[in-house]
Amino acid sequence: MAKRLILMGPPGGGKGTQAKRIQERYGIPQLSTGDMLRAAVSAGTPIGKQAKTVMDAGKLVSDEIMVGLIAERIDQADCATGFILDGFPRTIPQAEALDKLLKSKGIKLDSVIEVQVPDEKLVTRITGRFTCKACGEGYHDTFKTPKKAGVCDVCGGAEFSRRADDNAETVKARLAAYHAQTAPLLPYYEGQGLLKVVDGDRDMSVVTADLEAILGR
Ligand code: AP5
Repeated sequence: MAKRLILMGPPGGGKGTQAKRIQERYGIPQLSTGDMLRAAVSAGTPIGKQAKTVMDAGKLVSDEIMVGLIAERIDQADCATGFILDGFPRTIPQAEALDKLLKSKGIKLDSVIEVQVPDEKLVTRITGRFTCKACGEGYHDTFKTPKKAGVCDVCGGAEFSRRADDNAETVKARLAAYHAQTAPLLPYYEGQGLLKVVDGDRDMSVVTADLEAILGR
């Protein structure tokens, strides 16, 4: 059965970490709008050029750009049996556009899962995050270090990077944007009977087990 879900939660809440695990477990792709934008920034595309300043300030890129990116991505063949939306929608207009898009394709969301983490934990999580440059595996200075220091567990790569927006000051702006513009989506999806909540302030594998219990076999 197709699985179409949205992972919601604050910046640093663990959406990306859990989306990668769900992707592996269920064979459905993670559609991370943050990753798509960062790829556009690295490639220097017109969208990337527009998005860079906004992202560096911790603000939200325009609904028009984001809806366009997702509409194109959901049309690709690997989304036929489902997808995990990670970082989209982030505003009520994005959620309404998604509803319209899915309706036009005759498909529906199965669940919207909020990963809850208290604000005071998020700055530590975000400022300690780093990623393997070769394969994209995510790590953390305290919570998930490579088994051998300086070497990626997955691909053996030795170069790592940190995101330009992962500094304490930008995190504050990202959190403010989350509370002002994204949190209103929680009652929106609750009203549609789709919202489920998971406590994300626990060990990563315990969070994964809760998500798998919601998603089923
Ligand atoms: P985006 O890339 O989506 O960033 P975000 O929402 O701020 O989320 P993060 O990627 O920071 O966190 P995460 O929840 O994935 O946490 P992670 O698993 O890495 O967006 C970036 C920017 O792009 C936005 O600010 C905006 O400008 C723009 N943008 C994107 N989408 C947009 C949209 N739809 N509309 C408008 N603008 C958009 O975990 C964080 C760290 O914690 C990791 O190091 C991890 O190892 C660790 N960790 C994870 N889980 C646990 C745990 N249970 N215990 C301890 N540590 C943990």
